[in-house]
Amino acid sequence: MAAVVLIGSQWGDEGKGKITDFLAEKANVVVRYQGGNNAGHTVVANGEEFKLHLIPSGILYEDKTCVIGNGVVIDPQVLLEELSYLAIRGIKIGKLLISSNAHIIMPYHRVLDGLEEEVRAEHKIGTTKRGIGPAYMDKASRIGIRVIDLMDKEEFADKLKRNLTEKNNLFVKVYGKEALKFEDIYETYLGYAEQLRSMVTDSSLVIDQSIQAGEKVLFEGAQGTLLDIDHGTYPYVTSSHPIAGGACIGAGIGPTRINRVIGVIKAYTTRVGEGPFPTELLDEVGEEIQKNGHEFGTTTGRARRCGWFDAVIARYAVRVSGISDFAITKLDVLTGFDTLKICVGYSVNGEIIREFPQSQKIFKQCQPVYEEMPGWQEDVTHVRQFGDLPEAARNYILRIEELSGIPATLVAIGPGREQTIVRGEIF
Ligand code: IMP
Repeated sequence: MAAVVLIGSQWGDEGKGKITDFLAEKANVVVRYQGGNNAGHTVVANGEEFKLHLIPSGILYEDKTCVIGNGVVIDPQVLLEELSYLAIRGIKIGKLLISSNAHIIMPYHRVLDGLEEEVRAEHKIGTTKRGIGPAYMDKASRIGIRVIDLMDKEEFADKLKRNLTEKNNLFVKVYGKEALKFEDIYETYLGYAEQLRSMVTDSSLVIDQSIQAGEKVLFEGAQGTLLDIDHGTYPYVTSSHPIAGGACIGAGIGPTRINRVIGVIKAYTTRVGEGPFPTELLDEVGEEIQKNGHEFGTTTGRARRCGWFDAVIARYAVRVSGISDFAITKLDVLTGFDTLKICVGYSVNGEIIREFPQSQKIFKQCQPVYEEMPGWQEDVTHVRQFGDLPEAARNYILRIEELSGIPATLVAIGPGREQTIVRGEIF
């Protein structure tokens, strides 16, 4: 029996797609449990690059069961587009299941996401404008439309009418925009329903049966720890729970079922969107990392802000998710620097703090306290054994392990499946 949760340990974009794809080879089932198509998972399989937003990265193996859990918000149009993108790219879809309890992203959610960001002006969150926040708002307000509702014409018509009355009031009276038409949305979404119907199931039951049968289940998180709505850098967060606990809620499994938590963490730090970022590099070093690491969003194409590795964040991620192993990614991007810095604490108001602060006001004022380490010049992309890495690269990894208190069981030195140094078994 093996259930492994894989999460992002920073602000997302840690390379979870690559590690999921790597681990998926040994898994029977791969489950997405939160977020939606705000995520962008890039996977390089057999030399070909695939960009996925909603479908679990395990889909690239034909023999896996992939599940979109109840905690995900599904834009059906995007899901169907992604399925045809995979078909065009020659991927044979094995088994894809969708939870009947997952919430649906509706056109008014996307409109609202854009309007709300406009109104926030200089306080904007920098959302992906995919309607994620408004869909989760409706879920929490208990007016959301779930997959199971979409499968029932009358239920869907009733819920859509009630939602549209409320949303159109807002669009017309508050934002001075045009109302959305019921018939257009109803017909289009019923069309989606027919295309998705055969995949809809009680996914919690399917996952439990797999675990009970001794199969290997991999839970693939989206976004990252600091984007968690409770434990992240609120309000500059997403609207779901990317931390490991989110897997229980978003897939319908209990915490005692989880054997291991893999924290994917980049060898440096990046952030998309607004909000404080203590180790951000606004100089040519930051630009170099951005260029070498291709740090541009998979979903929105936005340039990612780049900075040094932050061990305070790493420790925090270990704490809130109970991470058992790190998968350090993009170590190769740091090749060529004379020295590297690791943030080991923050200086704030004349004090040194080593734990992640609760207050965002304080976090904004935090100045990084750095340790400096020698860099390496050798190309590491062909290395397959930890011992074959340059000494400085090994020391960098060992220091991260020491500062965070957990082993870096996987180290990625390039985007390909084979570009992964394995230092222990996961499954
Ligand atoms: P939302 O999830 O679209 O509401 O965006 C909220 C915040 O989360 C913004 O700062 C986004 O840039 C960030 N975000 C959402 N999804 C991702 C992701 O997959 N990677 C990195 N940042 C993300």
